[in-house]
Amino acid sequence: MSILVTGGAGYIGSHTSIELIKEGYDVIILDNFYNSKPEALNRIKKISGGDFKFVECDIRDRAGLDKVFAENDIEAVIHFAGLKAVGESCRKPLEYYENNIGGTVTLCQAMRDAGCKKIVFSSSATVYGSNNPSPLREDMPAGGTTNPYGTTKLYIERILEDLYKSDNEWSVVLLRYFNPIGAHKSGLIGEDPNGIPNNLMPYITQVAIGKLNHLNVFGDDYPTHDGTGVRDYIHVVDLAMGHLCALKKACSGTGCDVYNLGTGKGYSVLDVVKAFEKASGQTIKYVVGDRRPGDIAICYSDPSKAKAELGWEAKFGIDEMCADSWNWQKNNPQGL
Ligand code: NAD
Ligand code: UD1
Repeated sequence: MSILVTGGAGYIGSHTSIELIKEGYDVIILDNFYNSKPEALNRIKKISGGDFKFVECDIRDRAGLDKVFAENDIEAVIHFAGLKAVGESCRKPLEYYENNIGGTVTLCQAMRDAGCKKIVFSSSATVYGSNNPSPLREDMPAGGTTNPYGTTKLYIERILEDLYKSDNEWSVVLLRYFNPIGAHKSGLIGEDPNGIPNNLMPYITQVAIGKLNHLNVFGDDYPTHDGTGVRDYIHVVDLAMGHLCALKKACSGTGCDVYNLGTGKGYSVLDVVKAFEKASGQTIKYVVGDRRPGDIAICYSDPSKAKAELGWEAKFGIDEMCADSWNWQKNNPQGL
């Protein structure tokens, strides 16, 4: 039996594929390389020391998906494929709804018709919106998303919940990621954004490598210990391990469950800058500017449900996250 990993050439998918292969799973990676490169596949092979299948396909391509399900005995799908840039989603909402929601519906139709009814889905802490206080718990009301990207995650969660309600043979695990950073210890794979990074850690590493002049800190007047925004950063390898636990859950029965994947600890922008400077020995020049529209002050998880029910908890701290992000950037100044 195989595990289909959609978006497996991307940042989180590549780290998860390595851990799956190391655990002995037969892995099939499916990706259209919209936001990743074929070189990622060579790196996965090198790090894992194992083999896997690869299919270049779009999750909106029903005939392509049917072929993959017909040619392989697929037990479950870990579904990472999607577009994830918040700013771009505001400029191109239809593309985001079509790719993320349309693609997921097509994938689920192909799964249903092939009799494969186990799915682990990449959701996001963004579904908690801005009205819930941290620590965020899975039983708090989701909604109030502030951009089309976040809304696609919210709607896909609802679609998968409805799917389970309509057919109790499905097993759905929704994973709400907090802020993934870090990279594999080898320094061979990591986050490889196109153009100027939107997220904090890749921006910091590009300042450290000299590609960008300084970090713009988006506001220092939030009600936090130093005025800058607080987030729950999680090492991408911890996140990958969370998927292995979620997959075991998905394969052990039926149901529709949702879990936070975070550390439960919040760090401010300036905490991260300091931790990165310590880990890398580099000085990060920064300039404090205005708040970024749509940002919230504080966002961190209560990760206790994943610990109790999946037996998973994050192991790496902020120092290792920073050291591994730097190791990846230093070894790959131009990305892959
Ligand atoms: P990524 O862009 O590195 O990986 C996504 C992969 O999906 C890419 O390789 C891309 O080429 C592929 N893809 C996109 N559309 C596709 C399509 N239509 N058909 C086939 N392949 C397609 O992103 P990531 O950071 O690894 O994120 C993985 C998932 O986790 C995404 O769904 C993202 O929204 C979600 N997520 C990410 C974060 C984060 O901070 N990175 C946080 C919360 C949730
Ligand atoms: C962002 C998205 C979120 C998405 C997540 C992962 C927004 C509003 N939210 O979360 O939907 O799931 O990325 O892709 O975009 N910061 C700076 N300077 C920078 C970049 C960031 O000060 O150049 C600050 C931000 O204001 C924030 C913190 O760093 O306080 C983290 O930002 P970021 O890495 O973009 O993640 P989120 O905003 O939490």
